[in-house]
Amino acid sequence: MRNVDENTITPGVLELIARAPNPRVREIMSALIRHLHDFAREVQLTEQEWFEGIRFLTDVGHITDERRQEFILLSDTLGLSMLVIAQNNRKPPGCTEATVFGPFYVENAPEYPQGADLARGAKGEPCYVQATIKGHAGEVVPGARVEVWQADASGLYDMQYEAGEHRARGVLHADDKGRLHFKSVLAEAYEIPTDGPVGRMLEATGRHAWRPAHMHFMIEAPGYERLITHVFRDGDQWLDSDAVFGVRSSLITKWERHPPGRAPDGTQSDIPFHTLKFDFVLNKGAA
Ligand code: BEZ
Ligand code: FE
Repeated sequence: MRNVDENTITPGVLELIARAPNPRVREIMSALIRHLHDFAREVQLTEQEWFEGIRFLTDVGHITDERRQEFILLSDTLGLSMLVIAQNNRKPPGCTEATVFGPFYVENAPEYPQGADLARGAKGEPCYVQATIKGHAGEVVPGARVEVWQADASGLYDMQYEAGEHRARGVLHADDKGRLHFKSVLAEAYEIPTDGPVGRMLEATGRHAWRPAHMHFMIEAPGYERLITHVFRDGDQWLDSDAVFGVRSSLITKWERHPPGRAPDGTQSDIPFHTLKFDFVLNKGAA
């Protein structure tokens, strides 16, 4: 291919990609090339701007490691994550909606029995969580595996601290009636990390980095689709401007604050504590 110009370069690349043996690779790569080239044409991208883009993506790669996932953060803040989630999680009405996974999940979180305190020293007022896990027809889903993770009173996840201990995170199993309860700390609103290229992008586009207070849940049970979602705290000031577009009205619930006194686990709390209840509804499907 010789003498390509700004009009012939796109069909030229597409012609090559049309020979890719895997049809899905062909489809994805062709669409990517078309949209990428159209983007450069639409904004009349300069060489300097192209280089800035390369530098930006290089910085995203450099800051990413096993504790910091800037690519996920970029996808989340560009709305790409929620778009992909929305188009892959069309469920019957009544099922609990899915939302962003985020960069703060860690594998091999500790397992706890029902009623356990997942906080393990995380900062914050105590929060008692009660949940049920049902199927779409109202049937009990016994024994679901439920993974929970959340930010503490400082708006930080355990993995953002040097110590690297598991705090306010863990795996539990619902009982045979689909019931779950545990103790943790009150999750607070937080800013997603802004000390990297995604932070620069947010600033350049005049956006804030706040996420409303929430608790993450990943729920798995045989015969049902895996559910990755959050429960949000009603009244949070960031519910309508979440930096990663993850809020669904159906996921907002009241987290009640109680004065010091007898807590749901029967202990005496000298400080205020919180309770939250949520009923999860799973969609039938592959586990
Ligand atoms: C989170 O909720 O953990 C999260 C999601 C998307 C971007 C940053 C954080
Ligand atoms: Fe989060």
